[in-house]
Amino acid sequence: MPAEHLVITLDGPAGAGKSTVAKALAIRLGISYLDTGAMYRALTLKALRLKMDLSDEEALTVLARNTKINFKEMPEGSLNITLDGEDVSVAIRALEVTNNTYYAARTPGVRTLMVGWQRAIGTSRSIVTDGRDQGTVVFKDARYKFYLDADLEERVERRYKELTAAGKGINLDQLRVDMKERDQKDLTRSVGPLKRAPDAILIDSTSLTAQGVVDKIMKLIQL
Ligand code: C5P
Repeated sequence: MPAEHLVITLDGPAGAGKSTVAKALAIRLGISYLDTGAMYRALTLKALRLKMDLSDEEALTVLARNTKINFKEMPEGSLNITLDGEDVSVAIRALEVTNNTYYAARTPGVRTLMVGWQRAIGTSRSIVTDGRDQGTVVFKDARYKFYLDADLEERVERRYKELTAAGKGINLDQLRVDMKERDQKDLTRSVGPLKRAPDAILIDSTSLTAQGVVDKIMKLIQL
């Protein structure tokens, strides 16, 4: 019998604070943080570098099959993403990658592979995993599921501050348009759409700090 690993899923739209919360939660619990969005971003980065036609689902699926996406354990417990052995944790945050990831995310063959890789990680260790389909598709039987949401304006504001702090010049109105569009695409794709699992606890983080959300989750899971 394999040892039972703890899986906590955190789904929700962009800018709801999932990654900050998931990272902090993983540290508090001494388990790993799995950033599933990073996997779709990494494949997108590779396709962009190869100047591929991203709308070609067959080609993207073949590319995914021939790609090694792994995670490198960092001292603080987080997992840095590697693409064919290269640490791409910074490169995948480029705006061009963000705005083109929906192609990989909507491709069924790509999702099937990603879901398999994510499950393999979840069966090898205890994780806090964030994404769009973690509670609905990938880890349907997770012990704890959360859906983190926040008002659009708040999410835009947070993302704006994050990007500005990282030295990325960005126009606030354009960012709002991009985020709205990304939400829409994540909500309406036919495979693995952004959706709250019926048994996921909804947390509205609009007026909460990331620490406030972590405290709330810690109380709810009582580990
Ligand atoms: O979480 P992050 O914003 O980095 O994710 C980037 C994109 O990857 C999302 O907009 C979504 O389209 C896709 N994604 C997904 N399924 C996941 C995680 C992310 O489709 N589990």
